[in-house]
Amino acid sequence: MKAQASTQHLIELHGVVKTYSTAAGDFTALKNINLQIGAGEFLGVVGKSGAGKSTLLNMITGVDHLSEGEVIVHANGAPISVHKNKEDEIALWRGQTMGVVFQSFQLLPMLTLVENITLPMDLCGNFNPKQSRQRALELLRLVEIEEHADKLPAYISGGQQQRVAIARALANDPPILIADEPTGSLDSVTAEHIFEVFERLVSEQGKTIVMVTHDESLSTRFSRTMRITDGELETRPLEGKPKSENEAGSNPKRRLSWWRRK
Ligand SMILES: Nc1ncnc2c1ncn2[C@@H]1O[C@H](COP(=O)(O)OP(=O)(O)OP(=O)(O)O)[C@@H](O)[C@H]1O
Ligand SMILES: [Mg+2]
Repeated sequence: MKAQASTQHLIELHGVVKTYSTAAGDFTALKNINLQIGAGEFLGVVGKSGAGKSTLLNMITGVDHLSEGEVIVHANGAPISVHKNKEDEIALWRGQTMGVVFQSFQLLPMLTLVENITLPMDLCGNFNPKQSRQRALELLRLVEIEEHADKLPAYISGGQQQRVAIARALANDPPILIADEPTGSLDSVTAEHIFEVFERLVSEQGKTIVMVTHDESLSTRFSRTMRITDGELETRPLEGKPKSENEAGSNPKRRLSWWRRK
């Protein structure tokens, strides 16, 4: 399960290629991606629709197979080569290591909102089952949707489902958050609230976040911003905020430590 690699980066992509085979022929969506992401970075990835953003995230999380190359993640004490392990092992490892916010949310339709969040907690066992509902409610409160906790996903709006997907990604208190357009369905005020939550997860808790967005105005607020165009990452990173400027104020009311893993 362990990979042989240096430990200076948290996430490493080496020569990653993704080719989709379709009836119309092969299509290469990612072309030789090399990327290193450090612990505590808030990396933004911008690019046009179809540029390869979701595909890139799928390679990092291992929810889809790559065609060439390697992805190594150094988290929870041991470097893991994400695509060189069995799917069930990686699924369990991912549950502990990465919170994933999918562009299409992927909530389970037959479970209530709170159950969608307790399920990954119960599967990974980081939290006592008796605590998991309470924690799930706290996460729903964090994304300002607690009052709908016992509804099914079909009975809330798209933006509300997106916030549940964010709460679910945080359920196991993972060190890494991978978020695909996590504010894409939100109004500007709610999007700003969610983005501030992300900023505080990085500055107060040292989490590492990779976030895809169409919103170029956010570029200056990430600690680093990369652009992807036609499956290629721009080698020169876009401007981002120096890490120190990215840190939130010290107002204790805004701290997130209350919901951390006990
Ligand atoms: N399963 C698939 N089979 C074939 N082609 C695919 C598949 N998934 C994505 N593609 C193609 O790969 C390219 C990159 O897709 P991707 O979903 O990564 O784009 P994106 O940057 O996330 O776009 P958007 O901003 O619209 O979400 C696109 O041209 C898309 O049509
Ligand atoms: Mg996408």
